Amino acid sequence: MAKTVVVVGTQWGDEGKGKITEYLSSKANIVVRYQGGNNAGHTIVFNQEQYKLNLIPSGIFRSEKVILGNGMVINPKSLIEEMNYLSVRRILTNSIRISDRAHVILPYHIALDELQEELKEDLKVGTTKKGIGPAYVDKYARTGIRIGEFIDVELFKDKLKYQINEKNEIFNKYNKPLFNFDDVFNEYVKYASILKPYVTDTSYEIDEALANEKKILFEGAQGVMLDIDHGTYPYVTSSNPSAGAVSIGGGIGPTLIDEVIGVVKAYSTRVGEGAFPTELKNETGDYIRKIGREYGTVTGRPRRVGWFDGVIVSHTRRVSGLTGLSINLLDVLSGIDTVKLCVAYELEGQEIKHIPSTTKLFSRCRPVYIEMPGWDEDISDVKHFNDLPKNAQNFVKKIEEITKVPVVIISVGPDREQTIILKDIY
Ligand code: IMP
Repeated sequence: MAKTVVVVGTQWGDEGKGKITEYLSSKANIVVRYQGGNNAGHTIVFNQEQYKLNLIPSGIFRSEKVILGNGMVINPKSLIEEMNYLSVRRILTNSIRISDRAHVILPYHIALDELQEELKEDLKVGTTKKGIGPAYVDKYARTGIRIGEFIDVELFKDKLKYQINEKNEIFNKYNKPLFNFDDVFNEYVKYASILKPYVTDTSYEIDEALANEKKILFEGAQGVMLDIDHGTYPYVTSSNPSAGAVSIGGGIGPTLIDEVIGVVKAYSTRVGEGAFPTELKNETGDYIRKIGREYGTVTGRPRRVGWFDGVIVSHTRRVSGLTGLSINLLDVLSGIDTVKLCVAYELEGQEIKHIPSTTKLFSRCRPVYIEMPGWDEDISDVKHFNDLPKNAQNFVKKIEEITKVPVVIISVGPDREQTIILKDIY
């Protein structure tokens, strides 16, 4: 049985990782997030109540400890709001640990995110405007402020002064409001003192936990197609949702990862801009959006909807080393006469099974589909694979065949009871 499991999104995010990680977290002692920030949004149903989380790992409901790893960019104000939101609903938050090496998102990052999108005009990424990209830019420019510095008043003061001067030059150039050092400092120094007790060297904690035979779950945010290296650049986020980032962003050696579960929808969705070969701009797409309630958790935007894309999930199998697939929202496809699965692309008269690296070529890819008969039955109460309608079983088996990854979990509804387990992970 596994000791360390990674859960990654295999498409463009929003695959429903929250439900699966919440389920797996009942078996894990510690749940760790390793990248991204409050651009992510998980909807979790716990004890019949719905919760929406952005920064705090879904393990908060069941595991002993949740960790916000060093690979993350953390908006302190949002984190405190989320902790308060949970406390009001009587969910304890004292198990949270924040890496002293994670980076801080400050208000000027958000303003820069907005400005950059505005300047890009037609080349907008369609970001969540949470300041994610600019915070990672500062990290790699080695001018960012880490949590360990943020909670040290003197260090924070010095670094913030430099940052505000530097950023104000940009805002000045574009006639945008400038930031006042005292205002930002006085507000954020309060947040720092609230968060200080939770800050620690989380890599050390993970290492100790492993030495004590604890089970660890690494929870990815977004999806591999939004990965800065392996996604549809430049229409991506600024971190690496791929499983390889667990090692860097969690502070654990790659030799210590046992399983990588890829979460996939029975169809595809995407928010924001960028090519999407299997996109359905028709009634079937509208039907799936309505039944699947495909609206963004963070921005409320309607998600673009399409058929399952086997080229993409094979790509994520390769770059993330998937050992199992968790198929979500299979119930949403009930009632569709013919379901389709994309097995290849046609690009300039040739059939290809990989994703071209440029948007120019990717947007010219046309999906090559296989069609399968659908099913009518409501499957939201099915508990065992053999009780699924034959056509739904065949659909799942076809996904295994196309992606070459065994299906280990199937979800047929938002509730944790609506889960078919084909293989125990822990
Ligand atoms: P950013 O992460 O806010 O910079 O946004 C970059 C791209 O990633 C945009 O297309 C966003 O819509 C997308 N994105 C970021 N986070 C998520 C997520 O959690 N789910 C789905 N899309 C996301």
